[in-house]
Amino acid sequence: MHTQTKAYYIETYGCQMNEHDSEKMAAILESMGLVETSTAETADVVIINTCSIREKAEHKVYSALGSLRALKAKNPGLVTVVAGCVAQQEKDRLLRRADHLDAVVGTHGIGELRDILERAWEKRDRCARTEFSRDVSSLHMPAPRRGRSPMNSYVTIMQGCSNFCTYCVVPYTRGPEQSRPAGEIVAEVQDLARQGVREVTLLGQNVNAYGKDRGDVSFAELLRLLDLVEGLKRIRFTTSHPKDLDAALVQAMAELGSVCEHIHLPLQSGSDKVLHAMHRGYTRAEYLEKIAMLRENIPGIAITADMIVGFPGETEEDFSLTLSALAEIRYDQIFSFKYSARPSTAARLFGDQIPEAVKAARLAEVHALQESITDQYHKAAEGTAAEVLIEGFRERSSQAFGRTRQNKIVNIEAPDGLNVGDLVTVRIEQGLKHSLRGKISFVVTVHREEEGSPQRRREHRE
Ligand code: 5AD
Ligand code: SF4
Repeated sequence: MHTQTKAYYIETYGCQMNEHDSEKMAAILESMGLVETSTAETADVVIINTCSIREKAEHKVYSALGSLRALKAKNPGLVTVVAGCVAQQEKDRLLRRADHLDAVVGTHGIGELRDILERAWEKRDRCARTEFSRDVSSLHMPAPRRGRSPMNSYVTIMQGCSNFCTYCVVPYTRGPEQSRPAGEIVAEVQDLARQGVREVTLLGQNVNAYGKDRGDVSFAELLRLLDLVEGLKRIRFTTSHPKDLDAALVQAMAELGSVCEHIHLPLQSGSDKVLHAMHRGYTRAEYLEKIAMLRENIPGIAITADMIVGFPGETEEDFSLTLSALAEIRYDQIFSFKYSARPSTAARLFGDQIPEAVKAARLAEVHALQESITDQYHKAAEGTAAEVLIEGFRERSSQAFGRTRQNKIVNIEAPDGLNVGDLVTVRIEQGLKHSLRGKISFVVTVHREEEGSPQRRREHRE
């Protein structure tokens, strides 16, 4: 089959779960002897890993599919694959709609990638693998990471979501909530730490519900197990659901040295009427209580959220409650979106859909308010000290960058000898709109480069 080395190119849209799925697909392709290439034009296999969370994301996918058609016409041997949430949503309809497509791989089909590609090459067979499976063993990284990111790594702890918020396509594209056994997760993190990983981000649509489907280890207990992993400095996780955030988790976050002081806790709306229509499972007051519990127990915690404007039936009064919630909670940062109707979801059939112009105006108001709050946080950080884990070096400058425990990006003038993975204390000199600028005052640890470890030195700039 492989007379000469084949090259692959993966284009990734959407969330961190998709980014990590792309890493898993890359690991499978590399275990088959393929090498990565930086353009679709030079590839023998192109995979588009798609997102369908909002209408705009799905439109981008169709335009990417359009450009694949021209590529395939020039290079008929090219194997083209669509993966991710649009693949799951559209299934074999995609094959019928786009005759230049070779394969459709659903969100549970990544483990079958080798077989799918072999079929495409050897039998010239087009296929769609989009069944949901109850097997969570495909959620681990299937092969050693090839130094893609030397110090941080995603780790999937669960897949799917069983909440069925009325606007959300995820339960349809990623299936029901299923947690991986804790032992497998701990073993994966131990292995990553041995490879030089210093920070892990635990991924799931609703990590606070981790383990509920298994009935053994809870999310708070999982954090306690991972905190014991030798060499690991930081643990992050996303996304948390307010309804499942409990005192045990807050306690674990407060006690465990490796768990970062940051939580992404989507509110979506400040109006109880809208929250109810969204099927979120909490009220504004209940959410505020959880914020108070977090701030009381974890001093300096950074809180971020997602917000939706223009949900069907959202009145001016409902919207003003969203603005007042933002002003009251004062998030460090938010991601805000205009509601868009998604296939299969309940809200797409709700009456009183909001006109596009109204949604756009509301989004602009939310942006402006949050921008001023974020700006105030960044200005207030000036002159303070922060622990930063070095993630990489900016091209064409002497700057390094990393994140604080609160997940804020800091750009730093890099002294000689600074390495990716170093943990440094930084004095914040300037708070900018999207980042901070700092100066190193103290290098806490400089890790050693072990033989065979994937840690990169300064010359290998990111
Ligand atoms: N329209 C707009 N935003 C949405 N999100 C999810 N579904 C939709 C939709 N149909 C947002 C939510 C979620 C984030 C990942 O995307 O805010 O938290
Ligand atoms: Fe979507 Fe709600 Fe599940 Fe989040 S909790 S993935 S918004 S259904």
